[in-house]
Amino acid sequence: MPRILLSDYDFHDLALEEALFASQGIDVVKAQCRTEDDVIRAAQGCFGILLQYAPITDKVVRALPQLGIVSRYGAGFDTIDTAACERHGVWVANSPDYGVGEVATHALALALALVRNVVAYNRDITAGEWHYLSSGPLKRASDLTLGIVGLGRIGKRMAHVSRNVFGRVVACDPYLIDGDFPAYVQRAPTLAALVGQADVISLHVPLNAETRGLIGADVLAATKRGAFLVNTARGAVVDVDAALAALADGTLAGLALDVLPTEPVPRDSPLVGHPRVILTPHAAFFSLDAERELRRKAAQNLATWHKTGRPEYVVTAGTRKPM
Ligand code: NAI
Repeated sequence: MPRILLSDYDFHDLALEEALFASQGIDVVKAQCRTEDDVIRAAQGCFGILLQYAPITDKVVRALPQLGIVSRYGAGFDTIDTAACERHGVWVANSPDYGVGEVATHALALALALVRNVVAYNRDITAGEWHYLSSGPLKRASDLTLGIVGLGRIGKRMAHVSRNVFGRVVACDPYLIDGDFPAYVQRAPTLAALVGQADVISLHVPLNAETRGLIGADVLAATKRGAFLVNTARGAVVDVDAALAALADGTLAGLALDVLPTEPVPRDSPLVGHPRVILTPHAAFFSLDAERELRRKAAQNLATWHKTGRPEYVVTAGTRKPM
């Protein structure tokens, strides 16, 4: 019987995937792979890998000649070496459009929690303090500028849901033509120009060689004093040490992170319990409906490839064919 490896997952159960694959006559091997060797061991004899965060590297692809396709739960595919997959003819698929609204509203929720001091007020009340000035002064949201870095699927939705909240929305995306900017979004020509004018910066870029550490000491040095930074993209886009230094020197007034370079966040990280930091556990994508759609689409890529030789959502096309 043909089989796939479900290499790692943090869902409570896998009933949806098991039912989908059973209906197609495909066996499922379940594992919690963290390393390349874990994946290589577990994927023996599998035509496909359905993964959350497991590493799919050149070493993995080279060691699995029977592998035809890998499909990622989610939009991002930064744990997959797509160039290596392409070289070896392995298809790469993802599920890019299941939670666009969820991530955008989560980013807006984090931005507003910072702007309105929501988490700080709650902390102060828990500590016995009840006063509207307990967490410092607040500015009017309609006087603030929202700066969006990466105006793709989620960035555009963020602009849409935020446009009546903030006074102005600006965005920086060097890969879009002017015509792809909605009329209510002003174009910042560079990242430096964006961070120099935004009161709230929200990150929506993919993680790749260009964006790793994109928000580092130099960009923060050009950032408007007292800005808020929200990251729902990928943890490694922000240099956390530089962001903590910017919080300490007042460049940043607050930081909200749904994604972190190491997940889960280490208990002893200075981010945990920091009075000006809000953390959520890589949950921006989540709603019950979005999770179901994510899982169905990511799994269906494998079943469809097995039947037709091509998945629904192609990241990079391969040359290997189902046997
Ligand atoms: P997308 O591919 O639709 O949009 C990304 C945009 O960023 C593109 O328009 C691209 O031109 C732009 N871009 C690339 N490099 C740039 C740069 N150096 N500067 C400015 N813009 C740049 O991606 P999508 O679906 O909107 O996802 C955005 C991010 O959200 C990704 O990092 C993804 O992994 C993450 N994500 C996070 C989730 C969560 O639960 N926290 C869930 C889903 C996605």
